[in-house]
Amino acid sequence: MRTKLFTLVPIAAISAVLGLGMLAAQTTAAAEEAKATTQSDPMQFVNGSKTWANTCARCHNMRDPKSLRDDQWRAAIAHMRVRAGLTAEEAKNVLVFLQQSN
Ligand code: HEC
Repeated sequence: MRTKLFTLVPIAAISAVLGLGMLAAQTTAAAEEAKATTQSDPMQFVNGSKTWANTCARCHNMRDPKSLRDDQWRAAIAHMRVRAGLTAEEAKNVLVFLQQSN
């Protein structure tokens, strides 16, 4: 009985430490993921590039993403969102794509 307890206690301690470590690692990973999502979700870029390619050359020549600064794209998308009939999400994605490509 005694020997069993002595072997079990360190194992329990090690598992507890490992468990806490993993929990901490998971929390950090989740926090970083959340940060990355607000900064740039790769799918926003991908979907934005598709929407841009499909809709933004319907009425005029395709505008080079490099032709405007980030703040100028924000204003341009605010105008073009209405003209192109984009949803808020589509407009956001196009903006992310343009701002990351200029
Ligand atoms: C329904 C037609 C139409 C669509 C679709 C459209 N545009 Fe335009 N766009 C215009 C017209 C008309 C103008 C010029 C008059 C104006 O600025 O409103 C213009 C002007 C612009 C300008 C000049 C700057 C500015 O803000 O006026 C930019 C940049 C631009 N469009 C980008 C885009 C992008 C990016 C998209 C895709 C999200 C897009 N456009 C989709 C019609 C359209």
